Amino acid sequence: MESPVNKSDIHLQKMREVKQLKSVEDKRVGSEVFDRITLQTLYKLANQGHIHLLNGAISTGKEANVFKGADENDNLVAVKIYRVTTSDFKKMQYYIQGDPRFNVRSKSKRQLINNWVLKEFKNLNRAYNAGVRVPKPIIAKNNILVMEFIGETDGTPARLMRQAKISNPDYVAKKIIEYVKKLYNDAELVHGDLSAFNILMQHDEPVIIDLSQGMVVDHPLSRELLNRDIDNLIKDFKKIGIEISKDEIKRKIKDL
Ligand SMILES: Nc1ncnc2c1ncn2[C@@H]1O[C@H](COP(=O)(O)OP(=O)(O)O)[C@@H](O)[C@H]1O
Ligand SMILES: [Mg+2]
Repeated sequence: MESPVNKSDIHLQKMREVKQLKSVEDKRVGSEVFDRITLQTLYKLANQGHIHLLNGAISTGKEANVFKGADENDNLVAVKIYRVTTSDFKKMQYYIQGDPRFNVRSKSKRQLINNWVLKEFKNLNRAYNAGVRVPKPIIAKNNILVMEFIGETDGTPARLMRQAKISNPDYVAKKIIEYVKKLYNDAELVHGDLSAFNILMQHDEPVIIDLSQGMVVDHPLSRELLNRDIDNLIKDFKKIGIEISKDEIKRKIKDL
């Protein structure tokens, strides 16, 4: 597939040296996102063929920027880059401690972010393998996560459920509950930040994103997070005309 190329595209494979990366750092979006280590990481990912080109920001969030990119075969990818300067370390520490997959004691901020990205990658993998519709994870390196691009083949990113017009609310609600169930029972994860702000709509199909806060079910906080996720979903379902009680959702999730 041809990917649209314009002057603002960042061709990673043309960057041969860190010196060149530095000049990009100076000119682009500001060095807040593209600091030296981030650029070096992008360069490594480019050498491995995972990202050939970055062309356009999809989102600038509180802690991460998401870009549209293409791999060496011109497949679209989404590239989520955590900003080391503005990340909420307290929150990260809170959500990562107690997760048996990570030992975060006395780690630097950068190590904490790297673990955070790895956590999001692992959570996506578990969800994906359990049959939950999430972006297929491709690779995590340092503060960068590369994953399947969710959107149109022409590069238009999918809309958030929050903003999309939902033509099939019954189906969408049913699918989302099914995914929460699969997450809980098969992936043994609780999303932890589930709402219409972290669900994309791709051709009437919901796609769950942003699993960085996801917790393993035997984590002491998982019950509280599951309850919060369900409360959020009930409100979002109401907005699309679906009334369902907490008990009913819980019954559906735990009904094995
Ligand atoms: N795989 C993806 N494909 C297309 N767009 C994405 C993808 N992942 C994230 N986005 C877009 O980027 C936004 C932010 O991503 P998200 O993972 O929710 O990060 P955060 O909320 O922490 O900033 C999403 O709301 C969505 O619009
Ligand atoms: Mg989000």
